[in-house]
Amino acid sequence: MNVAALNYEIVELGDPRLRETAGPVNFSDSDNLKSDIERLRTAMSERGGVGIAAPQIGIPLQILIVASRPNARYPDAPQMEPLLIVNPKILSSSDSTVALWEGCLSVPGLRGKVTRPEAVTIEYFDLTGFRHVLELSGFPARIFLHEYDHLIGKTFVDRVESVSDLVTDKVYMTQVLSRSV
Ligand code: NI
Repeated sequence: MNVAALNYEIVELGDPRLRETAGPVNFSDSDNLKSDIERLRTAMSERGGVGIAAPQIGIPLQILIVASRPNARYPDAPQMEPLLIVNPKILSSSDSTVALWEGCLSVPGLRGKVTRPEAVTIEYFDLTGFRHVLELSGFPARIFLHEYDHLIGKTFVDRVESVSDLVTDKVYMTQVLSRSV
């Protein structure tokens, strides 16, 4: 990948901006909101991410995208239209949990095994300020919970149970993918 050709810098682990709590979007400022969302979509797609949150490109607002699709890192991921989520709240989480390997555009080179609820019911707003309630399960729920963490100043590194649940991308691709979690 030619990093010089990328339009948006990703804020990486250790940068204090990744530790801040994002503020709610004000829908009366729709011009700024549209441009923030466009930047977020571009930053995600030019890096091939399956999700992204606004603080990762230095925008301290509660905006994220869930965009599950199969790829080399997540071969079993379901295909979905990218879902834009503004001002989300978690209404409920399933008692059942799943341990899965996660990566993050803000934590290059590392993967971590993280246990999270298998399903969540969320409230969120779309670009026009319309409220939705949605149940997510499986991989899309996983992406949402990962991105939601960015809105509260957390990354997957905060969620691993122990340091032995962290591996490099190389080990993930060559060893972990071929065995079950
Ligand atoms: Ni992330």
